[in-house]
Amino acid sequence: MQKTAEMASFIHWLPFLLILAAARKHVPRTFNVLSYGALPSRNTNNSKAFLRAWKDACEREGGGRVWIPRGKFKLGSVVFVGPCRGPVDFVIKGSLEASTDPSNFFVDHWIGFKYVDQLVVRGGGYLLGNGGSAWRFNDCATNSRCKPLPVTMRFDFVSNSKVHRIHSFDSKNAHFNLFACHNMNMSHIQILAPSTSPNTDGIRIGSSSNIRIQNSVISTGDDCVSMIAGSQDILVSEVHCGPGHGFSIGSLGGSHNEEYVNGITIQNSTLRGTQNGLRIKTWAPSPPSLASNINFEDIIMENVNNPIFIDQQYCPQPPCNGQAQSNVQIKNVTFRKVRGTSSSKIAVKIQCSKHVPCEGVNLVNINLEYRGPEGPVASSCLNVKGKSYGLQLPSGCL
Ligand SMILES: *[C@@H]1O[C@H](CO)[C@@H](O)[C@H](O)[C@H]1NC(C)=O
Ligand SMILES: *[C@@H]1O[C@H](CO)[C@@H](O)[C@H](O)[C@H]1NC(C)=O
Ligand SMILES: *[C@@H]1O[C@H](CO)[C@@H](O)[C@H](O)[C@H]1NC(C)=O
Ligand SMILES: *[C@@H]1O[C@H](CO)[C@@H](O)[C@H](O)[C@H]1NC(C)=O
Repeated sequence: MQKTAEMASFIHWLPFLLILAAARKHVPRTFNVLSYGALPSRNTNNSKAFLRAWKDACEREGGGRVWIPRGKFKLGSVVFVGPCRGPVDFVIKGSLEASTDPSNFFVDHWIGFKYVDQLVVRGGGYLLGNGGSAWRFNDCATNSRCKPLPVTMRFDFVSNSKVHRIHSFDSKNAHFNLFACHNMNMSHIQILAPSTSPNTDGIRIGSSSNIRIQNSVISTGDDCVSMIAGSQDILVSEVHCGPGHGFSIGSLGGSHNEEYVNGITIQNSTLRGTQNGLRIKTWAPSPPSLASNINFEDIIMENVNNPIFIDQQYCPQPPCNGQAQSNVQIKNVTFRKVRGTSSSKIAVKIQCSKHVPCEGVNLVNINLEYRGPEGPVASSCLNVKGKSYGLQLPSGCL
C-alpha cells in the first residue's frame, strides 16, 4: 500500500523532476554581477560578487558570460582564474573603480585573468585606475623608496583571446600587462593618463607570442606599447600614440638567459609629441641575447623627440658606465616610410654595441624634418652594419 503511494507520488512529480534536470543542463549562460550582490554605489567593495559571478561563468559547461551592467562599481584587487569549462565572455558595460590607496592591493595588479583560454573582454566600459595620488610612490627617479604599484589589468597564461572596446584611465602602473599569453587580439582600446604619470605603460608584453594590437589610442606617461624579453610575433597596427614614450622594444639584457625577441611589426601608426618614436633599448653591460626581425613601416611622426632610436647604452639613471657594452645582438631591423617632424636635431640615432654591432639594419624612405634652432636635421650611427634605400632625410647614417 505504502509502496503504491510512493510510486504514485513519484509519478506525480516525475514531469517536474525532468524539467528540473533539463533546467540544470541549461543553466543560463549570462551571470550578471548584480545577482551576486554587486552594487553600483560609492562604498561597496564588489570583489566577492565579481569573483562569484566569474566562478559560475567559468564552471558552466560550454562557457558562460559575466555581465557587468552600466554603473560605477568599486572593486578591490581580483584574480579571475581558469581553466574554465568553455569560453568566457566578460562584458563590462559600466565603470570599474580602483581604490586610491596602493596598500589595498594584495597582488601586483588590480584585475587579473590567469590560465584562461578563449576569453573575451569587451563591452565599451571603463577601468578607472585612480593612479593620481599613488604615482608619487612609483617614481623611482625622484623617490628612492619607490615601490611597484598595481597594474590595471594583467593577463597571465591567457590564450586564444580577445580584448576589445575597453577604456583604461589613470592606471597606477602599466594599464595592460601580458605575460605568457598566446594568440591574443586587442583592438579599439583607449588608454589615457597624464604625460607626467610615471611607469604608466599602455600595453606591456613579455614572454608572449602572436599578439595583435590594432585600432587603438594610447596617451600616457610611459611607453605606449612596450615589448620586453620573449615578445615574439607581435603586430601593432593603426595605433595612435601620444603623449608618451613611444613604441619600445626593451629594455633588453636586464638579466641572464632572457628569452629572445623576434618578429615584431609596427605599421600604419602615428606618434604625436612623444619622447621617443620607434625605439629598441638594451642595458649596458648586459649578458647575451638576441632581438631580430623587427619591422617598422608607414609611421607618421609629429614633433617626436627621438623618432628613430636604437639605444644600446640604455641607462635612465646615473651613474652610468659609458665604457660598458651590451651583448644583446640586434639583427634585421627595417625602418620603412617613416615620415614627419622631429623635435630634436638628431632624428635618426642608431647607437649599437661595440661587442655585437647591429646587423641588417635598413633605412628605407625616411623623411623626417626638424624646424628648430639647432640647424638642419641630422643622424648619428655607431657600430651598425646596414643599408639605406630611397629618400633619406636626414642623410648620411648608413
Ligand atoms: C575588497 O574585498 C576583498 C575580498 O573580500 C578584500 O580582499 C579587499 O581587501 C577589499 N578591498 C578593499 C579596497 O577594501
Ligand atoms: C586574431 O586576429 C587574426 C587576424 O584577424 C585571426 O586570424 C585570429 O584568429 C584572431 N585571434 C583571436 C583569438 O581572435
Ligand atoms: C598601411 O598604409 C599603407 C599606405 O599608407 C596602405 O597601403 C596599407 O594598406 C595600410 N595597411 C593597413 C593594414 O592598414
Ligand atoms: C635575417 O634576415 C636574413 C635574410 O632575410 C635571414 O636569412 C636571417 O635568418 C635573419 N636573421 C635572423 C636572426 O632571424
